[in-house]
Amino acid sequence: MSNELDRRFKAAKYIVHKAAEIALELRPSPGGPQGSLKHVQDWVTAADGKIESFISQEIKNLFPEDGFQGEEKGETRTGSLQWVVDPIDGTSNYARGRDRWCVSLALMHNDEPLLGIIEAPCTQEFYTARLGHGAFLNNAPISVSDVKDPKISMIELGWSHVSVKEEFLYYADKILSTGAMIRTIGSGTLSLVDVATGRLDGHFEMKINLWDVAAALVLLKEAGAVVSPFLKTGGLYKPTPILASSPGLAKLLSDITHLPLDG
Ligand code: IPD
Repeated sequence: MSNELDRRFKAAKYIVHKAAEIALELRPSPGGPQGSLKHVQDWVTAADGKIESFISQEIKNLFPEDGFQGEEKGETRTGSLQWVVDPIDGTSNYARGRDRWCVSLALMHNDEPLLGIIEAPCTQEFYTARLGHGAFLNNAPISVSDVKDPKISMIELGWSHVSVKEEFLYYADKILSTGAMIRTIGSGTLSLVDVATGRLDGHFEMKINLWDVAAALVLLKEAGAVVSPFLKTGGLYKPTPILASSPGLAKLLSDITHLPLDG
């Protein structure tokens, strides 16, 4: 397995980097949104499909026996090793020419994420993690923050069209009442990764999909974050809540969000 993973890790880094280059070239200029709506405020751009097809084809050529699941095309192949891709996470930002988006690719085995590779080309950030081997930003090791006092903390509260406004406002009120600073910047993947790097102390989202989190889960685990049991509570199949936190704020955020923690 180790050699097989080595080969896949190396290939995945190359593929994500190429995909991010293509996405950057195709990024719309700043202005009104360019793309079409899947649902209210749920954008898809021409680049999403192109990037997903590119990644799918590269993987098929190199590892025809592997499974594949993508966000956009519903293209699915099954295998005991399963790739999960979000071609552009943060599409609403991408569609308006903003910088906060990324390409995300994970490899899972028996429902366990083993590899996570994420590139945010606008900020020239390349995140990699392999289970048991640490998490890295541009090849430098990363770890979670040591913040314990909510009054100096920063927490992202993810919002998307599947969230319920009243619930969002309830959680925003609870989190703000701890003294935390909140953010909501439109890329669940990058927000989770921010918890792994210590740029945020927590991320909570009421409903999010597997492709938005699969790669980030490896980074979070390797960086020492505490995460709710997303995969065991439906995340493999349907939009599911997620909480990721630095250890110092995990109990507080778990109490507020009513989500258990996996460690
Ligand atoms: C979305 C973003 C957003 C999150 C949503 C995701 P997309 O992914 O990550 O921040 O709130 O839950 O669906 O559509 O940009 O790939």
